Amino acid sequence: MSTEQGQPTLRDVADEREFTIGAAIDPDSLRRDPSYWKTASSEFNAVTPENALKMGALRPSRHTYDFRDADAIVDFGRENDMYVRGHTLVWHNQKPDWFQAWDHTDEQIEAFLRNHIHTVAGRYRATIDAWDVVNEAVDDDGSTRRTVWSDAMGEGYIADAFRWADEVTDADLYYNDYGADEVNEKSDAIYDLLERLLERDVPIDGVGFQLHALAAHPDPESIAENIERFRALGLDVQITEMDVAFPDDDVPADAAERQADYYRAVVEACLEAGCETIVTWGVHDGGTWLRSFKDFGERYSGDPLLFDDRYERKPAYRAVRNALEKHRER
Ligand code: XIL
Repeated sequence: MSTEQGQPTLRDVADEREFTIGAAIDPDSLRRDPSYWKTASSEFNAVTPENALKMGALRPSRHTYDFRDADAIVDFGRENDMYVRGHTLVWHNQKPDWFQAWDHTDEQIEAFLRNHIHTVAGRYRATIDAWDVVNEAVDDDGSTRRTVWSDAMGEGYIADAFRWADEVTDADLYYNDYGADEVNEKSDAIYDLLERLLERDVPIDGVGFQLHALAAHPDPESIAENIERFRALGLDVQITEMDVAFPDDDVPADAAERQADYYRAVVEACLEAGCETIVTWGVHDGGTWLRSFKDFGERYSGDPLLFDDRYERKPAYRAVRNALEKHRER
């Protein structure tokens, strides 16, 4: 698999400088594809289920839970001595099809969410290290997103979710969002939200920035500034879902190099600002969600990760590894 015999893996380099480098995992690939399994366990020291811990995946019907896929990924992480991120307890997307708000009173929805959090976070009390407790609760203009949860419980559902999670798990608890990687209107709003939650002693340990760099690639300097201001609140900051693409109809000729440069710049910004964790949203290009994702009709290049379809290391891989290595030597 490796074309660079004798070179340390990304994981070796990350372990050495106590950096957490992760990948989102698909359970079927883990079961079926030995190269997937091998790459995930030798090149990364962290995992997160890409979909398996979402409410819709865990709850096939009103009265049943199905933890098989989630367990497979969490077990894989523990067996390989990896940091395990749980994604995600509360989100407006990927809810079970059978769950419809109009079937329920507000009180029932609140009880439903509390039970869900208690059951899922409680099951992995000692085996999941960090949870994205609430995902994407802030809209692009900085207002609180209207969701089935905010409609039933008001904005207070965010604080409640963190408290309920804290009741049953030892994991660190994160707020996670997209489009807030830089200093901008949305990250300002998230900053205010988290500051208010901390003032009220809501148990929140950190913030996750997804960093899906698709059309616009957020400015690394602004990313560093943003990380620093959240850390100054006392929060840990992680990059949780990184991938680097281009609009499908506008892919530059030197895309692989530009992608590598961008990954390098983000790792450097992250390290300078005191962020110690980056998770890429998949192991290899063959598994990226971007091959089926469309954003208002826009499609993106389908090779946004560190390994190509055949698990070969890309320029982006070497850029990340070298950035971590260089920083270690300082
Ligand atoms: C995506 C998955 O990668 C896809 O497989 C799924 O079909 C949709 O969700 N923000 C998030 C992630 O927080 O959970 C999303 O993951 C990508 C955007």
